[in-house]
Amino acid sequence: MKAILFDEPGGPEELFIGDFEKPKPKENEILVRVKAVALNRADILQRKGMYPQPEGSSPLLGLEIAGEVVARGKNATDWSTGDKAFGLISGGGYAELAVIHKDMALRIPEGLTFEEAASIPEVFLTAFQALVWLGKTQKGNFILIHAGGSGVGTAAIQIAKDLGAHVIITASKIKHQRCLDLGAELAIDYHDGPFFQKVLEYTNQIGVDIIIDFIAADYFNQNIDCLSESGRLIMLATLGGSKINNVNLGKILSKHITVVGSTLRSRSIDYKIKLNKEFSEYALPKFEHGELKAVIDSVWDWKDVSQAHRYMEENKNTGKIILKIS
Ligand SMILES: NC(=O)c1ccc[n+]([C@@H]2O[C@H](COP(=O)([O-])OP(=O)(O)OC[C@H]3O[C@@H](n4cnc5c(N)ncnc54)[C@H](OP(=O)(O)O)[C@@H]3O)[C@@H](O)[C@H]2O)c1
Repeated sequence: MKAILFDEPGGPEELFIGDFEKPKPKENEILVRVKAVALNRADILQRKGMYPQPEGSSPLLGLEIAGEVVARGKNATDWSTGDKAFGLISGGGYAELAVIHKDMALRIPEGLTFEEAASIPEVFLTAFQALVWLGKTQKGNFILIHAGGSGVGTAAIQIAKDLGAHVIITASKIKHQRCLDLGAELAIDYHDGPFFQKVLEYTNQIGVDIIIDFIAADYFNQNIDCLSESGRLIMLATLGGSKINNVNLGKILSKHITVVGSTLRSRSIDYKIKLNKEFSEYALPKFEHGELKAVIDSVWDWKDVSQAHRYMEENKNTGKIILKIS
């Protein structure tokens, strides 16, 4: 089969379409002819040699796919050839064929395209896990979502709003309108300076109940300053660095703050299956009825994968970047 490969870790120009061994479904897996795959920051890190795939995963890039079932393992009897499936995998999506665990695959909701379906799993599962499992979001909570225009950010805005929370986001100005349209109440351009006073002002100096953070070091002090009493900081990435000096840890104690970190890719398959099940019961009917929306920035032919990676690295996207596998 054809797949997107790279010989040496490096820049986007290293990526090319070449031949790779066809995957075979194990007893709990289905084999999918991939129609669309979404880009993730993890793909960029892996391409640079900074994110080795978890043990037992395909060495190919690609964490979320949508396509048609072409074969199944002996235990995957719920799936038939021709079924339209999408879901999260731990690698191998940048290819004509990919395998997915039968319990991680989901049926594409009525009315959604392959591109829309491919844009859902990684970002919506991450946002659902952060807001529901880790953040324990309650109706009426105030939630600050950093990188609001990102794939995970645009999913988190929608889920938080759907759960009845008030959403504040930070993002580049150009991404604000999309975030407001999705349900954010206040959008802050972090390029204009510190965000914490604006957050405190909006919450009558009380602060937010939950922060969904991807920036880490650069925002840590401000995050602690604008969390409310017993607030929760959910850290999902370190886009702004992972090491900090001059932190007053005393504030974490005196404000009774909880700091939680998570990466979805390294969770066990049992954890992911449980998350996938709970998420799908909550979200799939909402996608079908238009209450949740796949947020696609752009769709690229997979021959243009290098340009698509470059575009993501330049922070140009609002929502997901999709490759069409032709
Ligand atoms: N922990 C997990 O389980 C998990 C799961 C999925 C993704 N992630 C991580 O979450 C992050 C977001 O993923 P994604 O796919 O949604 O990303 P994305 O769509 O590529 O968006 C990332 C956005 O973050 C903003 N940004 C980048 N660097 C920044 C910085 N230093 N300071 C402030 N803003 C910055 C940029 O938007 P602006 O133009 O607004 O600056 C950029 O477009 C990535 O780091 C990804 O690896 C973690």
